[in-house]
Amino acid sequence: MTDTLFLQPDALSANAFSLLCEQSLTLSDYPLAAEAEKNVLIYHNAALLEPVQSDKIAVLSELHRALSTGPGVLVIKGAYPDSEVIERHNRVFDAIFQQEAARGNAGDHFSAAGNNGRIWNSLQKTAEQDAGSFIEYYSNPTLALVSEAWLGPWYQMTAQVNVVRPGGKAQQPHRDYHLGFQENRDVQRFPLPLQLLSQYLTLQGAVAHSAMPLESGPTQLLPFSQQYPGGYLAWRQPEFIDYFRQHAVQLPLAQGDALFFNPALFHAAGNNVTRDHVRIANLLQVSSAFGKPMETVNRLRLLQLIYPALRQRYQNEQLHGAELAALVAAAADGYSFPTNLDSDPPLAGLAPQTQQQLLLHALQEDWNAEYFNQQLERQQRLRSA
Ligand SMILES: [Fe+2]
Repeated sequence: MTDTLFLQPDALSANAFSLLCEQSLTLSDYPLAAEAEKNVLIYHNAALLEPVQSDKIAVLSELHRALSTGPGVLVIKGAYPDSEVIERHNRVFDAIFQQEAARGNAGDHFSAAGNNGRIWNSLQKTAEQDAGSFIEYYSNPTLALVSEAWLGPWYQMTAQVNVVRPGGKAQQPHRDYHLGFQENRDVQRFPLPLQLLSQYLTLQGAVAHSAMPLESGPTQLLPFSQQYPGGYLAWRQPEFIDYFRQHAVQLPLAQGDALFFNPALFHAAGNNVTRDHVRIANLLQVSSAFGKPMETVNRLRLLQLIYPALRQRYQNEQLHGAELAALVAAAADGYSFPTNLDSDPPLAGLAPQTQQQLLLHALQEDWNAEYFNQQLERQQRLRSA
């Protein structure tokens, strides 16, 4: 009888891992990509968004392949073409840092004290701080396109800010949420098909909010390493760490570029060896509608805070199409479940109304903020058990 569906650490093979990681990327397999650098696919934002008009399925398919059977990592140059959008959002981050420092916030438990700054749940906190900047930032169609390519519709956006000051030290190589946050003894209780499945429940992204020259320590990446089935048990083992140290690659990023990778890709933040360059990223962790995200977001509160500004932009026709869809997807819950089917039966079809549907309905009907708030709270009540 075989137990191979419950993988044990002694079945891991650094040799098999290295064979996977030694694949090289064939650029012609990814017709929308501009180039391949160190086995990382590089896309130009406009060249990715433009073909969405004529063949969105082809764009989604290529991005999904890149993250799954391809190198597992891609960069989109100029994902935020207007640097003012990033700069305004940086000022919002600064204000949040100041408020949290004044409250004696402990900072980042993933690094040595003093070197890093962290804003957990920057998604909700930026909406609380500045609704206009939130709307401007998350109405980005590129974030929505890559999220949808990996996760399909109704994904759940979360975000965390990471600031690495000069002297900030590199991380150990690792995989990310879900199983990257569990100890080996718990990982090995999950049958291998579930371990493989889990990578399809999350997308990792990072938007460069400062320039990230190599000396500032942009993320070290090991292309194709997401393909190793036993990787969730392997990343703490010395042979795998050694292989990573010898073969990981880094790419400089410009402010406004975005990096996306499969959460099963081996990666680690780099050393910031500059004297004076502060590296700032907004990390995006996007979850499938079917998965539990890492962070709670109070989406009801978030929506109530942004609704007046959103309504105004909608009525002035400043926000529509792919930008409006991206904003709604990032802000509101798009999934009907879990719910209470006694009090929240489907209005049409088989699935009860979602927060996203309610929000769009409110905008189309031009509800005032008070009525919107009431209806949103009513929906939440009906969904509760
Ligand atoms: Fe990570």
